[in-house]
Amino acid sequence: MSANKIILDCDPGHDDALAILLALSSPKEINCLGITTSAGNVPLELTTKNALKVLALIKNNKIEVYKGCPKPLVGELVTAENVHGESGLDTGSGTSLPEPISSYNNKHAVNFILDTLKEAPNNEITLVATGPLTNLAAAFSIDPQTFRRAKRIVLMGGAGFEPGNITPAAEFNIYVDPFAAKSIFQSELEIFMFGLDVTHKMIITSSRLKAIKNSSNMVGPSVADLLTFFNVYDTKKYGWDGAPLHDPCTIAWLISPDIFEMKKMSVEIETNNGPAYGRTVADWFNVTNKKKNINVAINGNSDKFFELITKRLNFFD
Ligand code: RIB
Ligand code: CA
Repeated sequence: MSANKIILDCDPGHDDALAILLALSSPKEINCLGITTSAGNVPLELTTKNALKVLALIKNNKIEVYKGCPKPLVGELVTAENVHGESGLDTGSGTSLPEPISSYNNKHAVNFILDTLKEAPNNEITLVATGPLTNLAAAFSIDPQTFRRAKRIVLMGGAGFEPGNITPAAEFNIYVDPFAAKSIFQSELEIFMFGLDVTHKMIITSSRLKAIKNSSNMVGPSVADLLTFFNVYDTKKYGWDGAPLHDPCTIAWLISPDIFEMKKMSVEIETNNGPAYGRTVADWFNVTNKKKNINVAINGNSDKFFELITKRLNFFD
């Protein structure tokens, strides 16, 4: 089985950082062609710098980072410093990740996505998105024919039964740019959605955090320092023994799909103003008889998920 060729579009962010590390620690399963950054958890300048800092942590100056769109298609940017800290990658100890050892590529993320899709054989590249879908929607809007050359989209976002996390109805990535999400969900591409229904089962418990901290590889202690900070907001909010680790679910599914249970259903995006703005309206029991356009992750084995992440970090020795 050849490795999945991916472009990883993200808004680092702590859990995006873990998605990057899991992808780059798994060369047999993942061939990351490039990282594109969206504005989301923090503004674009910071998400871009943070992607470069994660690469510096693993001394990787090969993977190119491409800056994307600085704000959603419609409306103003909403960020999440309350969760990720002012830098977007604040740590428990207060020490920062290493400074970047490379700079971002001057090609715009949207052009990188389209050029890469154009140059690759049809149906070969998986687009992974762990932030707002602005870059992907912009690429689709500019050149839909080229965009549809992608094999599929694997995204973290939305919620089927779970309440929202930025409003009672909406999950953050979708809420930041619901018009982008609506366009992508209607793109006719095969979409795999890892929303709060499954990510809220992936809790960074103290024992899991300790296993990462005590791992012998060179990144374990730094990753544990990041996750220690990331745990603070959600443990207070939900009263759980840790925060949900959202974004790496996308990469973990590409590596080990048996960790997750998927169910195909119709999912629409609410873009009208009001309390449900940004909601992913999932037709779980097919009451609308609408086209089942999205493969929704409805369950996952959290022990297998964290075992995979903890083991793969040993790649960085
Ligand atoms: O709702 C969680 C999602 O929003 C994650 O991708 C997190 O990084 C933020 O982008
Ligand atoms: Ca994210």
